[in-house]
Amino acid sequence: MQRTITKAELAAHNTRSSCWLALYGEVYNVSSYLAKHPGGASLLLSVSGKDATKDFEAVHGAEGQKLIEDSLPRGSKIGALAPQESGEGREQSPREAPVPPLESIINLEDMRLAARAAMTKQTWDYYESGAETETALRESSAAFQRIFLRPRVLVGVRGVSAGCRILGQPSAFPVYVSGSAMVGMAHPEGEGALMRAAGSAGVVYMVPTLSSRPLEEVAAQRAPGQPAFFQLYVSSDRSRTEAIVRRVEALGFQALFVTVDVPVPGRRETDMRNAFEGAPPSAMSGDEVDRGRGVMGALRTFYDPALCWDDLPWLRSLTSLPIVLKGVQTAEDALLAARHPCVSGIVVSNHGGRQLDYARSPIEVLEEVTAALRREGLQDSIEVLLDGGIRRGTDVFKAIALGARAVGLSRPVLWGVAAYGQAGAERVLGMLRNEFETTMRLMGARRLGDVGPECLSIRSAAASRL
Ligand code: HEM
Ligand SMILES: Cc1cc2nc3c(=O)[nH]c(=O)nc-3n(C[C@H](O)[C@H](O)[C@H](O)COP(=O)(O)O)c2cc1C
Repeated sequence: MQRTITKAELAAHNTRSSCWLALYGEVYNVSSYLAKHPGGASLLLSVSGKDATKDFEAVHGAEGQKLIEDSLPRGSKIGALAPQESGEGREQSPREAPVPPLESIINLEDMRLAARAAMTKQTWDYYESGAETETALRESSAAFQRIFLRPRVLVGVRGVSAGCRILGQPSAFPVYVSGSAMVGMAHPEGEGALMRAAGSAGVVYMVPTLSSRPLEEVAAQRAPGQPAFFQLYVSSDRSRTEAIVRRVEALGFQALFVTVDVPVPGRRETDMRNAFEGAPPSAMSGDEVDRGRGVMGALRTFYDPALCWDDLPWLRSLTSLPIVLKGVQTAEDALLAARHPCVSGIVVSNHGGRQLDYARSPIEVLEEVTAALRREGLQDSIEVLLDGGIRRGTDVFKAIALGARAVGLSRPVLWGVAAYGQAGAERVLGMLRNEFETTMRLMGARRLGDVGPECLSIRSAAASRL
């Protein structure tokens, strides 16, 4: 008969020499598998002594269950987690409450509240958290509120056209979905749901390196002719990056967004605190795994602090796709990018306030970047995109007016997919497009070419910061 293992007994086995974890109600001893796990030992250690089903599914998907039998050595299964202690049958947490009808959601803030109700505390904290004091996070959206608009009247705006091209790819309006890791934590269909939502909204989705679903499966969700971008983390294991880039190119993606603002993961303290939740007091001792770094810490082998400008020719040699640097935050780096033969574009971004605290708001940086590019006559050398803190159609409008080709959106689509699946993400994109087109009409702008700095009343986006 199968042995029953209590949560307390499981929790005691959280070291390299005795590493147990629970998956789908079964308890496994994975000590001998640690060194063989292709995702690294530290990820397994970060969930040791715990029910790892959710983390497992976020990366391997529900079908990953087959991996367990195929990959773990015989005899790894040592018993069943005591029934009342596995995920099933537990009481619904207050954060997983019912959501209101989708039609009642009329703006992105409504969607945020619905998602908050739908998500577990751990997922909510991972999505919402910013670095340290979260000043960069707050400032990213607050800065938009310091920019006012100068509408023109009697223009005749019955028909407005918001369509554009981003890195040569058509988009219904100047917004794309920016990649965020492990969408599977929000919804079991994960990145696939976002790909379909982007397709039906006529915008481009940037699939993340840390996708919870296999890349091929996500790519297969594209409608015929639907373009897609890929967010690339360059790993210190360059052969791993080479293999990913080749897969991305073979799957027909249209651009590579190389994240350049994560030499190391930022300190997201809310997320870090969750790493201790449920862990025994000894969790920090005696093992190499840094539990105190939360979900991001567990994934830190995916970055390379040594990445530098000189690596770009190597990346260029791997692919003919346009290379975009995601996470530029100064005019100096924008000029280096514009003069670099390997770079087609930049995203002015502070990673949604999740990396360097006190990083300036992207809209403030955009003003500096586009001015510098114009001054040097380089405005046509690269495409300038922006992400971070976009919550209203007016925010999109302000970024376009300051010279962005388009803007990226992350958290709002995650809220949508967490609360309502694909339909929720579609609604977010639909609401934002509606707000943007309304703003164009009220501003007397018939096409994107009419949207320029003269539309704004702005001495400086930095003025009266905070
Ligand atoms: C103990 C059960 C587990 C087994 C048998 C297992 C097996 C595997 C295998 C075979 C791969 C290679 C890629 C693939 O075929 O998908 C892999 C990769 C990976 N695993 Fe696991 N895994 C387990 C648990 C986990 C857990 C709990 C996590 C997260 C906390 C995790 C995170 C990862 C990551 C991030 C990768 C790399 C994905 C990539 O490079 O694309 N695994 N795992
Ligand atoms: C939960 C979450 C995970 C993210 N994961 C990644 C990632 O893996 N790679 C990356 O380049 N950016 C990542 N980002 C940053 C986004 O791509 C984007 O730069 C930023 O979140 C945009 O700000 P917004 O969330 O206010 O729209 C992530 C953002 C969030 C919220």
